[in-house]
Amino acid sequence: MTSFTKPDGTLSSLGRWLEQRTGVLSFFRSVIDESIPGGPRWAYVFGSGLLFLVATQFITGVALALYYVPSTNSAHTTVAYITKQVWSGSFIRSVHSYGSQMIVVVLFLHLAQTFLFGAFKGRREILWLSGVCLFLLMLGMAFTGYLLPWDQRAYFATAVGTNVMGEVPVVGVFLKRLLRGGDEMGTLTLSRFYVLHIIVIPFGIAAFIALHLFLFRKAGPAGPPEPVPRLSARPFYPRQFAMDAGFAGILMLILIALAHFAPVPLGPEVDRSSAAYIPRPEWYFLPLFQWLKYWAGSRAIIGIVVIPTIVFALFALVPFVDRGSERRPRRRLLSTSLFACVIGSLCLLGFLSRRDDRSDRNVSGQLAWQNEEERNYMRQPFEPTFTDVLASAKEPPSPLLLAGQGIFHTSQCVFCHGEGGVGTKAAPRLAGLASKLSVEQLSALIRHPNPKMKAGGMPAFAGSDEDLHTLIAYLQSLQ
Ligand code: HEC
Repeated sequence: MTSFTKPDGTLSSLGRWLEQRTGVLSFFRSVIDESIPGGPRWAYVFGSGLLFLVATQFITGVALALYYVPSTNSAHTTVAYITKQVWSGSFIRSVHSYGSQMIVVVLFLHLAQTFLFGAFKGRREILWLSGVCLFLLMLGMAFTGYLLPWDQRAYFATAVGTNVMGEVPVVGVFLKRLLRGGDEMGTLTLSRFYVLHIIVIPFGIAAFIALHLFLFRKAGPAGPPEPVPRLSARPFYPRQFAMDAGFAGILMLILIALAHFAPVPLGPEVDRSSAAYIPRPEWYFLPLFQWLKYWAGSRAIIGIVVIPTIVFALFALVPFVDRGSERRPRRRLLSTSLFACVIGSLCLLGFLSRRDDRSDRNVSGQLAWQNEEERNYMRQPFEPTFTDVLASAKEPPSPLLLAGQGIFHTSQCVFCHGEGGVGTKAAPRLAGLASKLSVEQLSALIRHPNPKMKAGGMPAFAGSDEDLHTLIAYLQSLQ
């Protein structure tokens, strides 16, 4: 600010130049001078905490997207590459993963504060609704991001999630196919989830954050629920600003500590045939997961559609239902106890889900084994090189190599040395040989097999010199 203002507080020439063209300085002033009824409080830090977390997700997400390739061939390998090879890759991936979970926690605190303090009252209906949309979009981010690593955990959890969607009457099957890009989950599913995760939903989030902040500034801070004297209002800067920054600092420290001391594991790649795999969603989806267990068969519609729609509609329409001007939680017993009921049920469902898993020996054993598999996989070194990762995008073979492959077959090399020269019991591997032997050495060996090769039944190559060169070119292309 200093270069924009003079010591006496008036604008410098640079400041005036910028202000006249953009108005950004007076906007900035009005933001930091925003008066908060009743003064700054720690209870108000959650909104800016969320902004901080969303920014963190954006930055770490861009870093991950530099390496990630969304296809069944490369998704898992690129994530393994990020986790095991890239400098700080595991740390950044872990911050992104823990950050997403932390958003759920802080979002909940923000929502609880707004709801319990009645901060949605006083012409703030659209502000609340934009928040509800943000809530849904965040859950969408969590759901679409979970699949991307394409490990066992991701695949089977998302299979369950999309199957549940398929149970919705009328539109369900269509939705499920739309999301999966077909009946099965594969590359199309990955690319759809990826596009949703990095383009569609983030755009929605950016737009709704803008709307949310715009409406918030229009309505002004709600202040504490109890009536406060007008004179107790204080500006946002410096105390509320310091609290917000302090909270963001705490969140950052927690994220760094978690990512450093408990890096997020990556499991083995998807193996669709592992029928024994028991899928489990992220912890914050567990209550929903448990809830769905109770609604199998013909009653599924009630559990999957009717009750969630009613609960959600109540939640979305809170400011239209709870219309009184009273904001104190103790005077709004119905609202407060409903809130406590919903939170209590969610906790109970989550707890029951854990208990079900623990009480069934088979399930708990399998889950423990799955975790062990993940730890094992994490201990193994990264195998493929990054060029292998992109090998699926290889150019089609040239005519020369195709001709060489033809000779490899017609001269019967393939019978002893195997398809692609990988080697069989009868003869050794030829792939990779070209890096050890020169063209002259190779043609000598093929024209005049040594005694050992003869003993193995290898005939001398009788074709033309041109064919021999074509054949060797083919051998050189084998890695
Ligand atoms: C009947 C089986 C058989 C056939 C057919 C055959 N090979 Fe072989 N080849 C062998 C055996 C066995 C050896 C290894 C002998 C040893 O060193 O133990 C060998 C070795 C070689 C080697 C040397 C490998 C090394 O590591 O030094 C080359 C090169 C080779 N074969 C090329 C060919 C080509 C090209 C053809 C087709 C024109 C062919 N072979 C057909 C059995 C066969």
